[in-house]
Amino acid sequence: MTERLEGETGLARAVELLRAGELVAIPTETVYGLAADVTNGEAVAGIFEAKGRPRFNPLICHLASLEAADQVGVIEGAARRLAQAFWPGPLTLVVPLRAEAGLSPLVTAGLDSVALRVPALPLAHALLEAFGGPVAAPSANPSGKISPSTAAHVAQALTGRIAAVLDGGPAEVGVESTIVECSGDAPRLLRPGGLPVEALEAALGAPLNRTAPVNDTEPSAPGQLSSHYAPGKPVRLNVTEPPEGAIFLAFGPGYPQADANLSQAGDLREAAANLFAMLHRLDALPGEEICVAPIPQQGLGLAINDRLTRAAAPRG
Ligand code: TXA
Ligand code: MG
Repeated sequence: MTERLEGETGLARAVELLRAGELVAIPTETVYGLAADVTNGEAVAGIFEAKGRPRFNPLICHLASLEAADQVGVIEGAARRLAQAFWPGPLTLVVPLRAEAGLSPLVTAGLDSVALRVPALPLAHALLEAFGGPVAAPSANPSGKISPSTAAHVAQALTGRIAAVLDGGPAEVGVESTIVECSGDAPRLLRPGGLPVEALEAALGAPLNRTAPVNDTEPSAPGQLSSHYAPGKPVRLNVTEPPEGAIFLAFGPGYPQADANLSQAGDLREAAANLFAMLHRLDALPGEEICVAPIPQQGLGLAINDRLTRAAAPRG
């Protein structure tokens, strides 16, 4: 049920599956990634489901070239210098998102910044060229397990949960990409990785701001990720009968009065795909607070509830 793909025909099949909204593990020079079409919210939700990820972390958007990356994010100043020096390669840049790029908000976890990376592995490059658009891909391991550096690792852990694994041989670098945030004034190191910090500093001609919390992917302490979208209005959970005048976000059938419904059918994957877009929309409506219907605490419901609980937590 999980196809093992290689060579030219394997690449064509991988592209076909991605276009159909399926999940495909792909090789890169750092580690294998679990890829989905960035414009397909339900496919992106499927990444979190397959990994059993209990939280929605923003994902890295993989592109074929700097030119392709320019369509998705605003790459200026230090970001441009770093991109020109190190792409393709194990460097991820967090930059302002272009809203018109059409990414599912689940890719960025609702943020207005986006993480971009142009992988160097020729097979990854060929796949992205042939696909003709960006793919979102975290490391292709179940949540809490180590990142996979071979197709066999991926197959062992995720067979049956994803459509295919494209075999590109063992990953050369073996650790994830270095992440630098360039959306503020000075570039900040968010995650040390495959590209040495000294190389970045040499290219910038200045020391990198390293004071940011180092948030490696997983496992990491909840709340460690500093940048997270939260609505401006207070959020209240597990509400079945919202008070008069409240904004109501429903889940499942039987809520004709709701302002929005994460999934009429009660489908958690559809709900995950809708979550950030609906929170943004409801936040802009007149009303004091956003009330949210109960979401089952299973499968993707864990990640949805985690996100909503953070949104509902008292603000400091
Ligand atoms: O080498 C790699 O980077 C691998 C391969 C597959 O490319 N990918 C990878 O992706 O490690 P992932 O999704 O596991 O790591 C993404 C991390 C998030 O946990 C978060 O820390 C950071 O990137 N990130 C992504 N978007 C961000 C944003 N808009 N703001 C801040 N941090 C962001
Ligand atoms: Mg990871």
